[in-house]
Amino acid sequence: MITSLIPPTGAAVDHDALHRIYAYPATNRPYVRFNFVAAADGAATSGGFSAGLGNDGDKRIFAVLRRLADVVLVGAGTIRAEGYGGELVDDDARSWRRANGLAAHPAVAVISGSLDLDPSGDFLREAPVRPLILTSAAAPADRRAALERVADVVDCGADTVDAPAVLAELGRRGLPKVLCEGGPAVLGDFTRSGAVDELCLSISPLLAGGDGPRIAVGRSPEDAVGLTLSSLLTEDSALYTLYRRAD
Ligand SMILES: NC(=O)c1ccc[n+]([C@@H]2O[C@H](COP(=O)([O-])OP(=O)(O)OC[C@H]3O[C@@H](n4cnc5c(N)ncnc54)[C@H](OP(=O)(O)O)[C@@H]3O)[C@@H](O)[C@H]2O)c1
Repeated sequence: MITSLIPPTGAAVDHDALHRIYAYPATNRPYVRFNFVAAADGAATSGGFSAGLGNDGDKRIFAVLRRLADVVLVGAGTIRAEGYGGELVDDDARSWRRANGLAAHPAVAVISGSLDLDPSGDFLREAPVRPLILTSAAAPADRRAALERVADVVDCGADTVDAPAVLAELGRRGLPKVLCEGGPAVLGDFTRSGAVDELCLSISPLLAGGDGPRIAVGRSPEDAVGLTLSSLLTEDSALYTLYRRAD
């Protein structure tokens, strides 16, 4: 049973309450929520994957976050590591989304500079909606041509993918509720660009060890962004935080 520590209601947090806690604010611009899980020692992976870090409560919240989003955005490194084949939401979520004015399945967008994505791999072959690949004008032409057969490929920068251009593209497509599921390079990059509105971070009661990355990499300390804790839930010694930008 998930309970709330902040605010300290003491009451069980059921499915409907999760929807209220994680509802996107009304906004007329793309709003970027990142979702990560980390071990108590800061590791963002165990054995190269995030899957071993989350418990049942984390999985339920993960599903609610996907249910509420217009688009699931993810870096190519996460696709290559974790697969992402098939449906991202279940039948119940599809019905809920339709009843609540959303597309049955969230859009799926990938950030990749190299376009090193297999057009016949699980992710692109099994995608429930035509994926959007966000790249730069410098991307290799042959890979672009191959991927254009199975996905929309859009330039969002000259040499690298610029976070503001990504958000402008998602806004143009009518996808303001952005759920970014990582990975660490994308969070580092969006932080540097001032493009992170929220962080949902689950902290697992686990000393994972190993040499897995933190949830954000590739930034300098001057890019630090202050956060405010909006919600803190718990179940089975795991903590589920919801931080918002302090400003
Ligand atoms: N704990 C968690 O919740 C969690 C969540 C997600 C991922 N992970 C883990 O994180 C690891 C992957 O880490 P990662 O940092 O490689 O993943 P990532 O951030 O998903 O992907 C990095 C890749 O995204 C592309 N990219 C990001 N920013 C770019 C930019 N500005 N311009 C052009 N391309 C850009 C590049 O793709 P190209 O190389 O194609 O150019 C880059 O190599 C995996 O082990 C995964 O399991 C953990």
